[in-house]
Amino acid sequence: MGQSLSGRNLLCLLDFSSAEIEHLLNLATDFKRLKRSGVPHRYLEGKNIVLLFEKTSTRTRCAFEVGAMDLGMGVTYLEPGSSQMGKKESIEDTARVLGRMYDGIEYRGFEHENVVELARCAGVPVWNGLTNDFHPTQALADIMTMREEFGNDLSGRKLTYVGMEAGNTGHSLMIICAKLGIDFCVCGPAVDGAFEPMCNPDVFAACCEIAKKTGAHISLTTDIDEGMRDADAVYTDVWVGMGQSDELWGNRVKIMTPYRVTADMMSKANPKAIFMHCLPSFHDTNTTIGAEIAQKYGVAEMEVTDEVFESSQSRVFQEAENRMHTIKAVMYATLK
Ligand code: CP
Repeated sequence: MGQSLSGRNLLCLLDFSSAEIEHLLNLATDFKRLKRSGVPHRYLEGKNIVLLFEKTSTRTRCAFEVGAMDLGMGVTYLEPGSSQMGKKESIEDTARVLGRMYDGIEYRGFEHENVVELARCAGVPVWNGLTNDFHPTQALADIMTMREEFGNDLSGRKLTYVGMEAGNTGHSLMIICAKLGIDFCVCGPAVDGAFEPMCNPDVFAACCEIAKKTGAHISLTTDIDEGMRDADAVYTDVWVGMGQSDELWGNRVKIMTPYRVTADMMSKANPKAIFMHCLPSFHDTNTTIGAEIAQKYGVAEMEVTDEVFESSQSRVFQEAENRMHTIKAVMYATLK
């Protein structure tokens, strides 16, 4: 493989070559095998990491914690609002303090510039656990899941992201697909006078440029038939993301209901297509928000029906598990 990622940050997958991404995915597969067969892999004993969260999390936090502990590392979790960062201490000073105590820093927050600033000042690897613009560790887990389904060479496969906009997860998926020669389509409504679903134009342009070399086809469409045509993976996410205003719900329910992933929508994709979701998901009313939205707007399922979520095509919990294997690979590759 011959890839050394020692000392590198993981802020955005645009910073990584196709070979480096493949290397991380191969490492994750190796780690999954070791974990499944009960083989200890405490390769980073004596190191310590800190997890800096400005938003809530289940998967990302647990993946970093269990991944770090499996590698023999110590972990400190700083929950939202529990550190001095922001209110009493600048990101620069926080980075300089944490970088003297820890071997690596994970950050989940709002502005992408914050994680860039942390990385600039910390002197140790910084990993992006989700910002407003990107969610790179999620995309790695998603592609690992597709490799498990369709084989390691995914070139020519198609992933369709159904959503209001590409968003942080959609942008990271667009990048990883462009880099690996996977066709990527955002399928959703056009709003505010646009003709296509929203997406960061700079990220889209960069991905189209990369795609010229890898053979990927990157597209945006409002047309469900077009989005589903030849799709090997149908992916969706919640209609109102973390940090977005609850006031958006009413409008989102109206605009996004035609784009709910249903069995009928899945039937337009390849017969062997899988359903993917980064989670958490509003596929029923068994959550506080799900119940509130059901009562307020009369929709018991939002971005995906319970039928599709629970179907044999669904790979959502495999994806969630793969967060841990891929994050472990990122920590190992950058800290060893
Ligand atoms: N998909 C994801 O990032 O999950 P969490 O918000 O639970 O970390």
